[in-house]
Amino acid sequence: MKWWQKTIAYELYPKSFLDTAGQGTGTIRGIIEKLDYLSSLGIGAVWMTPVCRSPMVDNGYDIADYTEIDPSYGTMEDMDELFAKAKEHGIRIVMDLVFNHTSDQNPWFLASKQSRNNPYSDWYIWRDAKEDGSAPTNWRGIFGGSAWTWCEKRQQYYLHTFAVQQPDLNWANPEVRRALYKAANFWIDKGVGGFRVDAITYIRKPDVFEDGTPDAEDGSVSIHDMTANTPGILDYLHEFKREVADGHDIFTVAEANGVSADELQYWVGQDGAFDMLFEFSHVNLEFKGIETWCRPDPWELKDLKKALVNSQTATKDNGWYPIFFENHDKPRCVDHFFKAGTDPKKAAKVIGMVLYTLRGTPFLFQGQELGLGNVKWPSIDCYNDISSYGQYDFAIQEGFSEAEAIACVHAFSRDSARTPMQWNGEENAGFTKGKPWLPVHDDYAVMNVEAEEKDPDSVLNWYRQLAAIRQEETVLTEGDFSELMKESNEVFAYARSKGDQKAVILANFSDHEVTVDPDLIKNMQVKISSVKDHAEGVLAPLETVLYISC
Ligand code: GLC
Repeated sequence: MKWWQKTIAYELYPKSFLDTAGQGTGTIRGIIEKLDYLSSLGIGAVWMTPVCRSPMVDNGYDIADYTEIDPSYGTMEDMDELFAKAKEHGIRIVMDLVFNHTSDQNPWFLASKQSRNNPYSDWYIWRDAKEDGSAPTNWRGIFGGSAWTWCEKRQQYYLHTFAVQQPDLNWANPEVRRALYKAANFWIDKGVGGFRVDAITYIRKPDVFEDGTPDAEDGSVSIHDMTANTPGILDYLHEFKREVADGHDIFTVAEANGVSADELQYWVGQDGAFDMLFEFSHVNLEFKGIETWCRPDPWELKDLKKALVNSQTATKDNGWYPIFFENHDKPRCVDHFFKAGTDPKKAAKVIGMVLYTLRGTPFLFQGQELGLGNVKWPSIDCYNDISSYGQYDFAIQEGFSEAEAIACVHAFSRDSARTPMQWNGEENAGFTKGKPWLPVHDDYAVMNVEAEEKDPDSVLNWYRQLAAIRQEETVLTEGDFSELMKESNEVFAYARSKGDQKAVILANFSDHEVTVDPDLIKNMQVKISSVKDHAEGVLAPLETVLYISC
């Protein structure tokens, strides 16, 4: 097995981790300062969301220079020190490659927009207006609004899958691809442990650009339905693998929504372009197609189980599964997967158990180890996240009231995952001595690292215990997966087995007691349970238990 299959990864949101400069935003020195904390979580890799130079319209996912550190985070020397010190702590640094688009302030785009015949003119996706002067197609960007923006200077539109300030690169141009691979190799030379590859499903555009069937009141169609996973994309991805990843002891994990199980072999695994693939079926249960916050579909535990089991089955022979329940784009899991009013501490432990015992590499997201929940700020003006604004406006445009629109933001805003890390009960939760760029969560006085370290029953200590068990019981990393209690709509149950080693995991997502068939746990003993007085054969409400064969 490779090192990254046996490890636990931590997704770190640098802007909100620790500010050592009193400026209200996190710094690389802040990460260096907290390496002991990170290693106390038993993790072996830290995926940092982008820290390259950026105007921060989308918090770093709009990159102005791929090989420079944004001054708000510090310097390249800080970054070099982070690589070195992290290594001493047994932690590899994983960087985010944002290769579908750049910032509109990237010198490549600044040059491209000047004229139709300069060295960079074909680096982005430019098209003429329709005869009536309107956008080339009716595609709507992921953050809302048209996916096309007019450029006066060139007298043409440019395409942006995301914000206006995030123009899409033209991957059909080999010079563009070469420049991107060069940037990735720059970080490999610095000793990066892997890459998370952003929004990769959008890089290949269709040969012909056409209007799609509208799916919104304004006659637009989501760009996702028009450009995601366009045939031919795999050629680029395999080239990326050859030019960047091959021959290095790193892992790659692609953010690739909507790749079907039968395509998986070409994406991950032996003949695949990546080692792992983040797919979203289990975190997008309420969105059957595109993510439209004002139109969530109801779902139940069986749907979550089905999504997770499908991914386990699909990655049995193809590649390796990156397990996650939270990231910087998703709501906090305690609010996402449980009924309103559920005890967050119990809910957090249930998710923690599943995260650390499915087959694959767990990705723990900053703050998840504390059991943090969503923020529910009173008005849209309190939010920072660009997609929250887009989704809010879309809801209003579709006829929802302001109260309904803000309720969607409460449920799905990306800001919930991005509030400052809660280190202690002092002002600003110990995150900054300045004014935090995003308000600290209201619960910081009780939910913070310092308080949870002292409480043996805390979510933080639960995660630490689970990490130690995962290290000790190799069946949890190496064992096969098989589902148990398939029909249950309350309990997610499964076994992991390797030779005569076996583990059984029971996670009661419901708020009532459930009896367990004694045969499932015959000859097994409780390794850890989330309740103090575990009763044999019974799962208390929201109890989760790990059994190991005697
Ligand atoms: C990915 C990132 C998200 C970002 C988007 C555009 O989905 O995870 O945060 O906004 O790409 O780069």
